[in-house]
Amino acid sequence: MPGAPLTGAGRGEWRTSAGFILAAAGSAIGLGNIWRFPFLAGQNGGSAFLIVYTAIVFTIGISLMLAELAIGRAAARNPVGAFAKLKGGAWPVVGFLGVLAGFVILSYYSVVGGWTIAYAVRAAGGALATTDPAALGSIFTHLIGDPVEPLAWHLVFMALTIGIVVGGVNAGIERWNRILLPALFVILIVLVVRAVTLDGAGRGLAFYLKPDFDRIGIGTIRDALAQAFFSLSLGMGTMITYGSYLARRENLLRAAGSVTGLDFLVAFCGGLIVLPAVFAFGYDPGAGPGLTFITLPAVFAHMPAGELFAVLFFALLGIAALTSAISMLEVVVAYFVDEWRMTRRTASLVCGAVIFVLGIPASLSFGALAGVTIGGKTMFDAMDYLASNLLLPLVSIGVALFVGWVMGDRAVEELTNRGTIGFPAARAWRLACRFVGPAAIAWVLLSGL
Ligand code: TRP
Repeated sequence: MPGAPLTGAGRGEWRTSAGFILAAAGSAIGLGNIWRFPFLAGQNGGSAFLIVYTAIVFTIGISLMLAELAIGRAAARNPVGAFAKLKGGAWPVVGFLGVLAGFVILSYYSVVGGWTIAYAVRAAGGALATTDPAALGSIFTHLIGDPVEPLAWHLVFMALTIGIVVGGVNAGIERWNRILLPALFVILIVLVVRAVTLDGAGRGLAFYLKPDFDRIGIGTIRDALAQAFFSLSLGMGTMITYGSYLARRENLLRAAGSVTGLDFLVAFCGGLIVLPAVFAFGYDPGAGPGLTFITLPAVFAHMPAGELFAVLFFALLGIAALTSAISMLEVVVAYFVDEWRMTRRTASLVCGAVIFVLGIPASLSFGALAGVTIGGKTMFDAMDYLASNLLLPLVSIGVALFVGWVMGDRAVEELTNRGTIGFPAARAWRLACRFVGPAAIAWVLLSGL
C-alpha cells in the first residue's frame, strides 16, 4: 500500500454528539426498517416476530454495535486499517470483507433506492391511484423490468449519495443527516397517525401487538436475527467507520443505546404504518417483498387524500435509503482515503462510479438479463445472497471474536472511557462477544448456505 495511512485530524470528526447519533441512526434506518421489517413481520405471525426481534436487537444486536464502535474509535481508522493497527496478522481480512460487502450491497441497494424515487414521482403524478393489486403489480414489474428507466433512477440515487459523501464528515454526512432524519421522523409520525386511525385498523393492530408466543418458531428466530443485523448496519464496518470519527470524550454506551433505540423505533413504526393499513383494506399481510410497492399503493388509493400519503410514504422510503447509502459509500471511501491516500473527492467519484456500474446488471436482472443466473439465482439475488448470507455474517463473527478475545479489557476501557463511565453489563457484553454472538451468527450463516 502506498504511503503511510492517514491519521488524526485530517480524517474528520463529528462536530456534535447529536450529529453522530443522527448519522449513525441514518445509516441504520433504511429500507430494512420500512420495507423489509413490515413484510417479514407480516409473513412471520406479526407479534411473534416483533417479540423475537425486540429481544435480539437489545441483546446481541446492541452488543455487536458496541463492538464495532469500540474498534472504530480505538483505532480511528477505516475497517481494514483498524484491524491492522490494533492487531495486524490476518485480521485486516475481516475489514476487507466489509469493504467488499460495501461495494456489493450498495450497488443493488441503490437500484432499489432508485425505485423509491420513481415511485414517489409516479405517486405525485397520480399514476398509482388504483385499488387493483393486479394493475399495481404490473406497474411494478414494468418499472423494474424496463431496460432504461430504473437505471436512470439508480444513477440519480448514486449521484445524490456521492454528492453528499464528497462533502466530507461534517459538511456532507453530518449536515445532510441533520436535515433528512428530522424530515423522516415528521413524515413517519404523520403516516403512523393516519394508519392507526383508519376504520378497521384494529385487526392489524391486534395481529401486530397482541402477544402470540405460539407462532414463534425456529424460522422466526433466524429471520429476526438476520434482520436485526441488517437493520443495525452491522457486518460491513459501517459502525467501525462512523465510530472512527468520534471524539475520545464521547460516551459510546449512550450513543449505541440511542442509535439502536431509534432504529428499533422506526422499524416498529414501519410495522404500525403498513400492517393496520393492509388489514383495514383486506389485503394479504404475507405478500412478501411486494407488500411495499404493490399492496401499499392500493391501500393509499382507498384513503381520503391517499395520493398525498403515497407521496409522503415513498419520500420517506427514499430518504431512509439515501442516509443508509451514504454510510455504505463512506465505508469504502474511508478505506481508500486512509490506506491509499486518495483524496475524498477522487475516492467518492471513483468508488461511486464502480458501484453504479456494478448495479447495472443487478437492475437488468429484472428484465433484459433475467435469464442470466448464477447458481440458479438472478444477478440481483446472487449479489444479495453473497453479501447478506456470507460476507456480513463472516465480518460480524470476526468483529465479535476480535473484541471478545483479542481486544479483551482494552475494549471495555474504550467503552468506559478508561473506567470513567459505568458499564454494569460489561460481563454480559463480553460473553455476547466471545460466545453467544458468534454462535448465533454462525447458525444463521450455516442455515443460509
Ligand atoms: N441498515 C440499513 C437498512 O436498514 C442498510 C445498511 C446500511 C446496511 N449500512 C449497512 C446493512 C451495512 C448491512 C450492513 O436499510
